[in-house]
Amino acid sequence: MFARVIGTGSYLPEKVVTNDELARTVDTSDEWIRTRTGIRSRHFAAEGELASDLALPAARRALHAAGVNPADIDLIIVATTTPDIIFPSTACILQSKLGIAGCPAFDVQAVCSGFVYALTIADLFIRSGQARHVLVVGAEVYSRILDWNDRGTCVLFGDGAGAVVVAASDKPGILATKLHADGSHKDMLCVPGSVNGGKVSGSPFVQMDGGSVFKFAVRVFEEGANEVLKSAGLKVSDLDWFIPHQANIRIMEATARKLGLPKEKLIATVHHHGNTSAASIPLALDEAVKDGRVLPGQTLLLEGVGGGFTWGAVLLRW
Ligand code: UT7
Repeated sequence: MFARVIGTGSYLPEKVVTNDELARTVDTSDEWIRTRTGIRSRHFAAEGELASDLALPAARRALHAAGVNPADIDLIIVATTTPDIIFPSTACILQSKLGIAGCPAFDVQAVCSGFVYALTIADLFIRSGQARHVLVVGAEVYSRILDWNDRGTCVLFGDGAGAVVVAASDKPGILATKLHADGSHKDMLCVPGSVNGGKVSGSPFVQMDGGSVFKFAVRVFEEGANEVLKSAGLKVSDLDWFIPHQANIRIMEATARKLGLPKEKLIATVHHHGNTSAASIPLALDEAVKDGRVLPGQTLLLEGVGGGFTWGAVLLRW
């Protein structure tokens, strides 16, 4: 029994904010943001638009592409760092919005690695025979947790959602997965605030040591790629597409260079949606599927890295 991704979908909120527009209120410039990150614009959710509101159209599109009815889903996993509310989980809220009930639903909190964590869990549920159709969603509304006075972080992030349907199959789909975390780096990228006795204690905004994150990401992307390739008995030259977490084009290109992977095999969509954390990999995957780059039989490497620190890789056959 294997787990295969059989449908993808995504959704970006309507409001687009370009670097120039951001530079009207933040002390920054299009030139700085573009050259340091590759980002040209990002989407921001409307007032009151929450992660489940972005997840719903992404999920519906993935279900439609897969030809699967909501009633046939037997597990929902939502990867998010920006849940609608403290509880219930965004996955339960999404389940209700999809008009279904009964199947298990839970959130995964692994920040920007959330989607590869969730996809790995879906693979394990399917291969152990506990689920046949799993809906895996990455959905984020980072605009709610950005400090507009911190130009080192607020220009980097955006809102969005991406989804996949993973199904049981007798043909190999997901070939290898590997997850990691090292909590000793918990302060390198975090939102340290918490709700306590009706008040927020600590900062409710993203804080980041950008330079350290950059170096850490390139190192673990390279290690993670080699790790899953080795466990599947494949080489870098067997890869058709590398779809890493979309944080910064320089991180992605530096990783491709270190791996000896031609730049043409890198799928990068960060320029038009910025860093959407757990949503970024399924957003990039959906775009590459819809524009015809990703084709049946191809080998894809998905990799995430983010706060925790967490990181992980999923190697799959399309
Ligand atoms: O999901 C993972 C999330 N995080 C990331 O992926 C971030 C990883 N890190 C990065 O992408 C990069 O470290 C950044 C893009 C955040 C920063 O790039 P950098 O080349 O490491 O720049 P820097 O932090 O060394 O800053 C260089 C200069 C500083 O000015 P001085 O001290 O040299 O005068 C900053 O104050 O750029 C300044 N700066 C800005 N200038 C204009 C920082 N942010 C901005 C800004 N606009 N938005």
